[in-house]
Formats: sequence, structure tokens, C-alpha cells
Amino acid sequence: MTSAHGLIDFGKHLPLTGDINTKAPLAYKANRAVSRVFNAAQMAFAEAYVNGLEVPDSVMRSALHASMPIFFKHFPSLLAPYEWVLQETDHLAEGSKELMTLQYDLPQAMLNRMLGDWELIYPKYSTGFWERGAKNLEECQMHMIDQVIERLDIQDGDNILDFGCGWGCVPNYIMSKFPNVRFTGLNLSHEQCEYIRGKMQDPQSYLSSERFTLCEGDLNEVQFSEKFDKILTVGVFCHVGNLTRAFQKMASMIKDDGKVFIHIITVRIPNNMSSGFTHKYIFPHGRYWNFDAVPSHNRDLKTVQRWYMNGMNYHKTLTAWLDRFDASQDFVKDLEYGMNYAKFRRMWRFYLLMLGTIFATCDGEYNGNGQFLLTKV
Ligand SMILES: C[S@@+](CC[C@H](N)C(=O)[O-])C[C@H]1O[C@@H](n2cnc3c(N)ncnc32)[C@H](O)[C@@H]1O
Repeated sequence: MTSAHGLIDFGKHLPLTGDINTKAPLAYKANRAVSRVFNAAQMAFAEAYVNGLEVPDSVMRSALHASMPIFFKHFPSLLAPYEWVLQETDHLAEGSKELMTLQYDLPQAMLNRMLGDWELIYPKYSTGFWERGAKNLEECQMHMIDQVIERLDIQDGDNILDFGCGWGCVPNYIMSKFPNVRFTGLNLSHEQCEYIRGKMQDPQSYLSSERFTLCEGDLNEVQFSEKFDKILTVGVFCHVGNLTRAFQKMASMIKDDGKVFIHIITVRIPNNMSSGFTHKYIFPHGRYWNFDAVPSHNRDLKTVQRWYMNGMNYHKTLTAWLDRFDASQDFVKDLEYGMNYAKFRRMWRFYLLMLGTIFATCDGEYNGNGQFLLTKV
């Protein structure tokens, strides 16, 4: 819902004030020191859990439900543990190779089971949309992509770039709806590209049509000779450290009347957010941009519309992934993770449980997904 002054109305949880960057130098330093202590305590607990500390899921969920509203409402600056979380960094996308090793090139058989792999909906590593009455994971992912189609106003015949295309789920689904849409999928993960190459050989898959092109490459380096009608990017900007450079690059890739649709995890607090645990074990340099970050970078691209997708959608999606991960233990325990499986399992469960619970904090009104429609300036 948008208010008369163009800002989003926040329902019963009021927006916060108090950007850490506006504090006096002494207050800033004090704040950073407390944040470091807080982060060290969090890490100590997380690592104890990963190393075998027994904490029932219900206790962990209750502790997060009790504490996270306090941080979101009263101490949001403690949720930004590193300096690089607060400002743009030098690289467009950071630590790409490390990110692939630690996360996206993990055994695909594990990820595919967790995320789900169906006829039309391939593994999709981003939230589903449950608010339209989806009954299961497959359906909520279809509804999520339907919403992207509406909001980006995809027309048959569009030539679209999927910036960070995962397993090709979004292109496959959209091409099934539009017989003349063309797609280019860009992804740095070799393992995910191998999955896509398999589908490109499968006549049942829309990725096997000539309308689909795969580009295995890095966001930092890629160049295309053609200009696209539209770019969509789902769940990728948590890996982008410099919005200015990313927008500059995307602006150069679209036609003059082209459009860009960004879907990302976002937080409705004054600063961007990250966590020491996810940075070290799950998504190196992963950060959740605050809801105003994209619209405040109107240089090469400008935000013409934005939407907040309530965090309960990601909460339900992550809960479904955790259930599927737990249910697939017999199958996934013998795959190669580069570490002892029992440790990997605890690390992974901690990630899914923690993130899933945080999204549900304050009825999903602080931590959810932001969707942004941008055009050239
Ligand atoms: C969270 S996944 C989302 C995938 C897909 N968009 C979806 O919704 O299922 C992020 C994707 O971005 C890709 N990615 C991350 N950093 C990248 C980089 N520097 N260059 C290219 N792709 C990147 C990952 O390999 C992964 O496929």
C-alpha cells in the first residue's frame, strides 16, 4: 500500500529512524564497538551449535522470535556487523569465486532436493509467493514468477536477460507462457550451468529451444553485443556490493525504453544488514540492502515503482526447504561437501532455521523482499 507522499505504509510496525551514518563520530565508534561484541557473541553461539551444541529447533525459534523485534525496532545498527555492509564496496559483485565454492557449486543433488525439481519449475533459490493461496512449494514459485511477469509487464516477443539465472527456472516458466519470448541466462555457477546444459538437450524443456541462450560468466566481467528489452534479476543483488556500478552496467545492456526488474531480500531498517555467520559459512559478503537503497541510486537507472513483499512468504519458503532438506538425509548424507557431513548438516540447518525465523519477525514487516522496477534515467 502506498501513502499520499509516495512512501510505503508499514502496517502496525512503524518505520525506524536513526541511520548509523548520521551519528556523531564518538557515537558512531561506540555503536561499532557494541556491534562487534554483539556479532562475536552471535558467532560464538552459531559455531557452538555447528560443532554439536544441542538446541531444540523450538528453543532457537522462540529465542529469535523474542529477540529480533527488539533489534529491528530499537537497535537496528547492531545488525550491520561490518563496515562494508554500510556503504558500497569497490566491486560490482564481491568474492564471486569464493561464493561459488561455498554455496552455489555445492552438490546439486542436495540443493535440487531441497529446492524442488519439477516439470516446469526447476530448482529456484529465491522466495515463493504464498499470498495467492499456493498449496505447496511448486505452486508458490509459479505464483511468484506470475507476479514478476505482471510487474515487469512482459510481452510476447520480448528479448530478456536473466541476470543470475540459477537453474533456469524463471526463463523456463516464462517461455512456457510466451511462445516468442527470448531469454539469455547469465550465471557464474558451473554446476548450475551444467544443469541448464542438460535441460538444453531435453526436448521437454523450453530451455532446449533456440529462444534460450546460456552465458556462463561473472556479473563483474560480462558484456553483451545486443541490447535487451528487459532485464530481470531474482535473488542476486545480495551479492552485489556496488549498486552504482551494477546499475551503470545494466543500463548499458538495455534499449532506451528498456526496463529492469530487481527482486531482492530487503530490510526496512535504516541501514543494510548482514550476519557474521552467513558471511563466513553461507554467503561470503552477502548483504541485505535496506528498502531505500535501490531508489536512492537513481543515476543510470531510476526506480519508477517499488513493492515490499511480506517476509512471511520467505518464512514459509525457507520452512519448506528445511523440511525437504531434513527429509532427504538418507540420500544427501553421502555426497561430497568438503567437510564432515554431520557438521555440514548442522551448519545448513542453522542457516535455514535462523533465516526462516527472522523473516517471520514482526509478522514479516521488517525483513522481506523488495521488488523494484527501473528504467533508464
Ligand atoms: C540466490 S540464487 C538465485 C537464482 C535464480 N535467480 C533463482 O531465483 O532461482 C543467486 C544466483 O546468482 C548467481 N550469481 C551470484 N554471483 C554471481 C556473479 N558474480 N556472476 C554471475 N552469477 C552470479 C548464483 O550462481 C546464483 O545462480
